[in-house]
Amino acid sequence: MLEDDFGRELTGLRVSLTDRCNFDCVYCHNEGLGDTRGPMAPSEEELSTDEVVRVIEVAADHGVEAVKFTGGEPMLRTDLGEIVRRTPAGVETSMTTNGTFLPDRAAELADAGLERVNVSQDALDPEDFATLTQSGAYDQVLSGVEAALDAGLAPVKLNMVVFEHTAGYVPEMVEHVADGDGLRLQLIEYMPELAGRPEWAIDIDRVHDWLAEQATEVTAREMHDRTRYWIDGTPDDGDGGLVEVVDPVGNTDFCENCHRVRVTHDGYLKGCLNRNDDLRSLGDRSREAIEAALRDTVAERVPYYGEYLIEDDNGEWVRNPAYEGSKGDRAPYE
Ligand code: 5AD
Ligand code: SF4
Repeated sequence: MLEDDFGRELTGLRVSLTDRCNFDCVYCHNEGLGDTRGPMAPSEEELSTDEVVRVIEVAADHGVEAVKFTGGEPMLRTDLGEIVRRTPAGVETSMTTNGTFLPDRAAELADAGLERVNVSQDALDPEDFATLTQSGAYDQVLSGVEAALDAGLAPVKLNMVVFEHTAGYVPEMVEHVADGDGLRLQLIEYMPELAGRPEWAIDIDRVHDWLAEQATEVTAREMHDRTRYWIDGTPDDGDGGLVEVVDPVGNTDFCENCHRVRVTHDGYLKGCLNRNDDLRSLGDRSREAIEAALRDTVAERVPYYGEYLIEDDNGEWVRNPAYEGSKGDRAPYE
């Protein structure tokens, strides 16, 4: 098991399979690798099938238990099924997708061993959806969600980025998942510095407050210290809807509970999704090069919101007193 200086064990890998995407979402952070950009031509630097599998195998040898495939749009890689199939037994696989190719491929991927999917859906209204994604694929995405459920990829998590243009849709999206029925909602706090439009950010605490009023029960999930709101039911009765909030900006514990590193489509490791200054090449992409890069990446992992954590006199990492009680503060962007 690899562990960083902040006591965070590496248990997960987030693998970006391509930077190509058939959507052009207005808020897209391109997984932190550049400016907002639209559909792209294939990058010649994409890791091959064998290379992706090798990275996962090495990570699994070092204790990684879960792999999430992302993009761009990961289903633009026709070898996704093969990659999932060749992922070592015991490593959980999931994918974050825009959903357009799920009608054709959900069954194939489930068959290959994929366990769960997150589908980006920021609006229920087709026109709003089109404006946000700059695409006309609304019906396809809805059929894709159905196909995923039919294929047993349940629960399907709907990813909704919460910012100025979508905050008003939160109640109807919560209503949409409230009856349980295989759908869950993941509200993702908009990361303004990555999308380049700081004025679109909203105060995520307002969303928390509203959800707390609706919820029958509120629980926490260790990964990224997410808050879970149970609507019309409780975790015990297994009923009701579940809304999870991922708030990297407003939640000062977010980085403390992060156990993942990311693999870029073009053969780099990053200790943090949100940083652009810590790219580490996988070199010749051999087992040895991958192993060395993984060790070095973990050894040098620093929480993105590093101002929140400081070293005390005993060399322990503790919360910076300057930010005590500052949940919701926008300090890192000032
Ligand atoms: N802020 C927060 N989340 C974002 N996503 C894309 N861009 C941003 C952003 N600027 C989300 C998408 C996708 C997930 C991988 O990241 O909704 O579901
Ligand atoms: Fe970006 Fe995802 Fe939208 Fe594609 S679907 S443009 S990768 S947020």
